[in-house]
Amino acid sequence: MTRPYDALALVYDRWNAEADYQRWAGFLHSRFAGERISRVLDVCCGTGRMIGPLQELGYEVSGVDGSAAMLTRAAANVSPGTRLRHAMLPGAAPEQPVADAAISCFDSVNYFVSDEDLRGLFRFVANSLRPGGLYAFDLNSPYKLRTFYGDHHHGDDFGEFAYVWRNRIDGARIRFLITIFTREGELFRRHEEVHEQRLWEIAELTAAARDSGFEVVEILDNYQPVLADDETLRQTWILRRASA
Ligand SMILES: C[S@@+](CC[C@H](N)C(=O)[O-])C[C@H]1O[C@@H](n2cnc3c(N)ncnc32)[C@H](O)[C@@H]1O
Repeated sequence: MTRPYDALALVYDRWNAEADYQRWAGFLHSRFAGERISRVLDVCCGTGRMIGPLQELGYEVSGVDGSAAMLTRAAANVSPGTRLRHAMLPGAAPEQPVADAAISCFDSVNYFVSDEDLRGLFRFVANSLRPGGLYAFDLNSPYKLRTFYGDHHHGDDFGEFAYVWRNRIDGARIRFLITIFTREGELFRRHEEVHEQRLWEIAELTAAARDSGFEVVEILDNYQPVLADDETLRQTWILRRASA
């Protein structure tokens, strides 16, 4: 059993090759307009797939993530010299200098499974932002985790690698047992990881955000200018750090 993302990092970018990072970055750019945002912190930046597109749009972007394996891969996706910090959250010192905006994309916030972890994450972000700064993140909705992930199995064969992904829901938490096979010469190496995500309800997240010094600006449907509803799969939250 490897730590979460040690093996997934080997295949993450090919597995998610179809992900909509360019569109997400373009949407965030439209939400950042008029907000005096130039410095952006990508919290749980993974392999840096949002950093590159935001840098192309002119932002100065740095990243922080708890997986050394993901950060090693990030170098290929970001501009040379980009600051990529290895830190497990919560518990790390806030970023200095502070950013004008922070982001956490591709359901990173679902990985903060307890109230304490979530509030710790929000406090880390609030302390890494200037007053009035924005925090945009997305979330696998409880509806998506129950209906599409639930107790299901998924799998695919990409040639160079293959995976089997088995899910177990237990109350407000879901565990993913992910078995990955990566090609090594004529043979495949088998890796196993367990990931855990939280089914966060809107009221719980709103309370945690407020307790951590944020106001909720909007909750949208998958990086579109449409309000999230009960059947939204990927909620997009935009918070603002209180000014005082
Ligand atoms: C699904 S990936 C998303 C990566 C990236 N944001 C993207 O859009 O592709 C989730 C990321 O969250 C990071 N992560 C999860 N829990 C974390 C924690 N407690 N502290 C720091 N990073 C964490 C993982 O290492 C992983 O890179």
